Amino acid sequence: MALRASEKPVVLITGASAGIGDAVVRRFAAGGFRIVALARRQERLTQLASELSAMAEVETLAADVTATDAPQRAVQLAIKAFGRLDCLVNNAGSGRWAPVHETDDAMMNEVIDISFKAPFRFSREALGVMKSGSSIINVGSVYGLIGGLNGGIYCAVKAGMIGMTQALAVQYGANGIRANVVAPGVIKTDMTRDFWDTAGFQRTNQEMTPFNRDGTVDDVANAVYFLASPEGSYINGQTIALDGGWSTTKFLRHDALVCERVPA
Ligand SMILES: NC(=O)c1ccc[n+]([C@@H]2O[C@H](COP(=O)([O-])OP(=O)(O)OC[C@H]3O[C@@H](n4cnc5c(N)ncnc54)[C@H](OP(=O)(O)O)[C@@H]3O)[C@@H](O)[C@H]2O)c1
Repeated sequence: MALRASEKPVVLITGASAGIGDAVVRRFAAGGFRIVALARRQERLTQLASELSAMAEVETLAADVTATDAPQRAVQLAIKAFGRLDCLVNNAGSGRWAPVHETDDAMMNEVIDISFKAPFRFSREALGVMKSGSSIINVGSVYGLIGGLNGGIYCAVKAGMIGMTQALAVQYGANGIRANVVAPGVIKTDMTRDFWDTAGFQRTNQEMTPFNRDGTVDDVANAVYFLASPEGSYINGQTIALDGGWSTTKFLRHDALVCERVPA
């Protein structure tokens, strides 16, 4: 039986204007959700909402996730426009990447603010209105599960996100609110485009991935959607790696074993 418009679930997605966030918006739209899409670039959000207008109601909010009032504005928009909030996807993140000895306080604080404090603050605000059956999904990284050379503060923050999610899972699970992490391997987006085709990347990622294809933004979006759906309703406090087996194996393709190494 089709849901009435007012019964359709509502999701708030941060970092919705590009890459993984854009794909997550499209997946939830296809799944019948009403959506609050947040990012800094309003024109991109407007374009996305217009593309999806026949399929889903999409409210947009141009905001920086680090702004003090951003979580409150976003959650209030969901309540004002749709009357409820069933799912929060903390996707906006910084891709800044450097060894610890090259990370100054400004960079350290920037990554913590965008990728750790904002998800914490958005989760806190969302919990104030979420009812039983709701869930929070944090977009982490395989580099929160294992160290990545030069990962520095990025690795530290993504690992911290797993701890934050487990704390949410234990604290609010009894109220029927779940929290999980998806941890993608490297996915081709604006964040990774610069090194995607380099020999160094191919050695460390493509040649070491047992499942023989690149991961896509849709792989991530499908997993996020599954975690939010009734079919995922017994999954709580987990980190799901989306990497074709990269982070759990020592696989190396035969041609990578025998080829000459070329400088990155
Ligand atoms: N791509 C990968 O290989 C990969 C792998 C593992 C994990 N991840 C994680 O996946 C998430 C999305 O990454 P992506 O690859 O899709 O990156 P992307 O293509 O660069 O997109 C980043 C999104 O976040 C938004 N954003 C960035 N800073 C923001 C801020 N301060 N306030 C509000 N929105 C902000 C951007 O929109 P505006 O510029 O319009 O604000 C954009 O919509 C990140 O958390 C990243 O760490 C990515």
